[in-house]
Amino acid sequence: MKDFLSINDCSTELLKDLLRTSARLKSLYSVGGTDLCLSGKVLAMLFEKPSLRTRISFQVAMTDLDGSAIYVKPEDIGGIGKREPIKDMARVLSRYVDGIMARTFEHTTVTELAAFATVPVINALTDWLHPCQAMADVLTIQEHCEDLEGVKITFIGDGNNVARSLAFACAKLGMKMVVASPAGYQLDAESIRKANQIAADTVTQTNDPARAVADANFIYTDTWVSMGQEAEKQKRCADFAGFQVNAELLKSAPADAKIMHCLPANRGLEITDEVVESSNSIMFDQAENRLHFQRALLKRLLS
Ligand code: CP
Ligand code: NVA
Repeated sequence: MKDFLSINDCSTELLKDLLRTSARLKSLYSVGGTDLCLSGKVLAMLFEKPSLRTRISFQVAMTDLDGSAIYVKPEDIGGIGKREPIKDMARVLSRYVDGIMARTFEHTTVTELAAFATVPVINALTDWLHPCQAMADVLTIQEHCEDLEGVKITFIGDGNNVARSLAFACAKLGMKMVVASPAGYQLDAESIRKANQIAADTVTQTNDPARAVADANFIYTDTWVSMGQEAEKQKRCADFAGFQVNAELLKSAPADAKIMHCLPANRGLEITDEVVESSNSIMFDQAENRLHFQRALLKRLLS
C-alpha cells in the first residue's frame, strides 16, 4: 500500500499489523529505546486547517524515527491547488521529500495528491475522513479489552469525518457501532452500506442517545461544529440539543463504559467538563496514541 487515505482501502491484516507495530514501538520508546528507521527521510506536512495533536504528533514521530518534518501553511505556498494545480504540487514535492501528509477541506485534495505523488500520501483529516484518529482510537480501545471482536462503541453526535472513519475501523476489525444523531446529521447511507458490506450489521443508527448507550463498552463524541462549519454554529448547537454526553445520559450506560473524544472538546456543548475529567475518560490516552500509531504508520510507509 503506497498511501494511507481511508481505512476502507486497507486490509484487516495491514490494520492489525499497524496496531501491533504501534504497541511494540510504544513500549520500546517507553523504556528509552529507539528505532532509527527513517534516517535522512523528510515528511512534508500540509495544513489547510488548525491542528494541535496531529501536527505535533507527526512531527515528534518523524523526529523519534530519526527523520524530519516540514510544516507548510497554505499561505506559504499560495494555497493548495490555487497557485498551481494539485497534480503539479504533488509531482514537485515528490522530487524533494519522502512522504506527504495533508489536512484539507476537500477529500479529493488528498486523493489527487496521492494519484500524482510518487511518494506516500497520508490523510491527516479531510471533511470526509480522519483515519489516523480512528486507528489511534482502536489502539486505545485495545488497551481496555482482551479482544476487539464484539466490542460495542456508541457514537453520540454528528455523523462526521471522525464517525465515518471509526465505522470503517469497526467493520474491518470486528467491532460494532451505534451512531445516535439528530435528523439531518446522521452518517450517510452509502458509508453505512460500505461498512456493513465489509462486515454485516457493523453500524446501526438511532436518534435515541439513552437507548444507544445502554450496552456500550465505549461512548464516543466529537464536536457538533467541525472545522469549516463555524458559520452554522448557532443552528447546529440548537439541532444537537439532547445529544450532549453528560452525567444524566451516562445514567443509562454501564458504569464501566469508557468515554472517548478525539479532542478538542467543547465543554458545555457536546460534552460536559465533568465527563471529560471523569475517571472513565480515556481521551488523553487517545491523544497520546496518535503519536504511537503514527510512528508505526510512518515506519511502514516511508522506510
Ligand atoms: N484530534 C485531532 O486531530 O486534533 P487536532 O485537530 O488538534 O490535530
Ligand atoms: N470533526 C472534527 C474533528 C477535529 C479533530 C473536525 O473535522 O473539525
